[in-house]
Amino acid sequence: MPSNLDQQAIDILRSNDRGGYTVPTARLYPYQWNWDSAFVALGFATFDLNRAWRELELLLDGQWCNGLLPHILFRQNDPDYFPGPSVWCTPNQQNGGGKFPSGGISQPPVLASIVRMLIESGGDDSRGKALFEPMLKWHRWYHRDRTPDGFDIVASVHPWETGRDNCPDWEPGLSRMAVDSDIEAYVRRDTVHSDPSQRPSKEQYDKYVTMIKFGRDVGWDQRRLTNEGPFLMADPGIHFILLRADRDLLALAKRFGREDCASEIQGWIAAAEGATNTLWNPELEAFCARDVRSGAFSCGFSSASALCFWADAGTDDQRAATLEHMRRIQAKVTYMLPSWDPDAAMFEPQRYWCGPVWPQMNHIISRGLAEQGEHDLANRIRDDLTALITKSGFRECFDPLTGEGCIGKDFSWTAAMWLAWLSPRAKTEAA
Ligand code: DGY
Repeated sequence: MPSNLDQQAIDILRSNDRGGYTVPTARLYPYQWNWDSAFVALGFATFDLNRAWRELELLLDGQWCNGLLPHILFRQNDPDYFPGPSVWCTPNQQNGGGKFPSGGISQPPVLASIVRMLIESGGDDSRGKALFEPMLKWHRWYHRDRTPDGFDIVASVHPWETGRDNCPDWEPGLSRMAVDSDIEAYVRRDTVHSDPSQRPSKEQYDKYVTMIKFGRDVGWDQRRLTNEGPFLMADPGIHFILLRADRDLLALAKRFGREDCASEIQGWIAAAEGATNTLWNPELEAFCARDVRSGAFSCGFSSASALCFWADAGTDDQRAATLEHMRRIQAKVTYMLPSWDPDAAMFEPQRYWCGPVWPQMNHIISRGLAEQGEHDLANRIRDDLTALITKSGFRECFDPLTGEGCIGKDFSWTAAMWLAWLSPRAKTEAA
């Protein structure tokens, strides 16, 4: 008999189901989002494995010919969301795009790691095997089209590509770019569906729209977007998530008899291991986001800084310094781990990625710490998210000081993290 919170989580996933794919939450995010769907599959897998695979199959259905797996798939037009398909204006399939309109950028590539988790927890090899080739294509796209000329690290062309939209991490890149005076007038919808004080600022949105305009102007030529676009930052989140996903893809290649791609994937892993130090900010002694063109580092410890454990990356000294930052932060907040450093400028406990605790980040950070033997912090991060959901419900993110829920309600990935990781039932099954 499922507990009340288990049942609520199942009900949220069912009510956000739009026929094989799940919206993150009704109205505020009315389409399929890339990394949301990957995490959501873990939740579905606890009560409907077939539906979990369907989520991932429909996500990959939106892949572009060049391998790009977009951050949003617009299967229909919903005027309640800005910027919708007519703003992105991405190419159709005949012109190199996907089967339906989408964003022209990607999102953190957690998919291969999640497919591996599903398979290793008893999922169906044949459903996973069918996803291998498109996932390989997507990783190729990341390594080919998002590695800027002359650099050896994958970078992001838009803060939305990192999934951590308005984290202060992006200040070095945003402060160097101007708003294009030709951007069309627009009306935001996110500030209608949620508290504007918890969302990104108008200036940030003007810059987000400027980046989209650049993509449109170059016909979504991904190499031009990377090499010539207005924003280019390397993100510890993308770097560590991709490194981990490459390792997981390699394990899947071996499992599925695809040794033919092993040396290619090993090459990516070796290159990423070599590039990890590029993100080490010696002044702060932490992995930090870095503007590719100026070399400037962001100046705070973000939740992405803690993902080195998930990627099994960094030296012993770098990991020790990372743990020290986390213990410093632990003494400042009630709930771990905030998305931005409470000791750094621009910390705001309720504004989107400027401080709130994010469920899906807690999950991979905690798993990474546990895998590397850091059980105290791993458990603290898991237990804090359990307490947050119990106190404030299935919100998009949470204030790390008060535990108040922020922005979206009845949120899919929060429900999924409960079912797959936090529920007493999940813990018993994992034991
Ligand atoms: C949004 O609309 O806030 C999204 O995060 C963009 O992906």
